[in-house]
Amino acid sequence: MADTDGEQDAHHYHLDRPQQPPLFPLKGCHSLDWGIKNRLSHIFDPRTGRTVMLAVDHGYFMGPTSGLERIDIHINPLLPYANTLMCTRGVLRSLIPPTFNKGVVLRASGGPSILKELSDERLAVDMEDALRLNVAAVAVQVFIGGEYETQSVHNMTRLVDAGNRYGMPVLGVTAVGKQLARDAKYMRLATRICAELGATYVKTYFVEKDFETVAAACPVPIVIAGGKKLPEREALTMAYQAVQQGAAGVDMGRNIFQSAAPIAMIQAVGKVVHENMPPQEAYEYYLALAQSAH
Ligand code: 5RP
Repeated sequence: MADTDGEQDAHHYHLDRPQQPPLFPLKGCHSLDWGIKNRLSHIFDPRTGRTVMLAVDHGYFMGPTSGLERIDIHINPLLPYANTLMCTRGVLRSLIPPTFNKGVVLRASGGPSILKELSDERLAVDMEDALRLNVAAVAVQVFIGGEYETQSVHNMTRLVDAGNRYGMPVLGVTAVGKQLARDAKYMRLATRICAELGATYVKTYFVEKDFETVAAACPVPIVIAGGKKLPEREALTMAYQAVQQGAAGVDMGRNIFQSAAPIAMIQAVGKVVHENMPPQEAYEYYLALAQSAH
């Protein structure tokens, strides 16, 4: 028998206050299940609804690209400043401390190297292994207009089905091949296809003209890849324009880890993304941090 002697009467029913649905800050995510939303909250800061994802998955097709030769030395010191790390399971298991307690977005497609036709990817991770690694999302490359377009879309839809079964968000990564145009019309097409076919959120590239139409037409959150290394002020300007025009953050790699001062750069990107710091101010912030580190 439960000991009920001296039990307090319950009377805090707040009959005048209807129960409100818990708020969730991300666009288009209201009808997702609790587990997916909880995982997304390890990617997007619930206070701002935005993210600084640190992308270091390039090795899965590029090998040890500049800045990623030694992830233990070059990348691990950046982890405290990222909301999320995007990497492969090989790097995660061999180099990332399991005490890293933010979200991990796991690269889940692969196959061809830079020496071959890149769009010929397959799924490269089982959902079971993603769950074992306790990741916050899985990422799959989608090559709209690429030679193996249908195969890559099918990779994504299979991952979405498995993700929905287990409560795992899927990041659809729109890949731009050499032959594909990088304009708003293409990005609208590619991001919308990913969202329509079930991606929980989508990564794309920033375009100078009409990026806001890409963000507006995509019913789920968009993050932008950084792309090739730019001078720091330009990279900060791109991040600023993207979030001001509707992106929910960045998934940035080379513009952080190839920077002259990566720890300063990731913090400046964080200011832009989470605090709407204008690019010139963020650049000065970067310079000051970079200088004090020397
Ligand atoms: C590689 C990727 C990268 O994660 C993505 O391109 C982000 O990195 P960067 O900012 O260096 O472009 O998806 O396919």
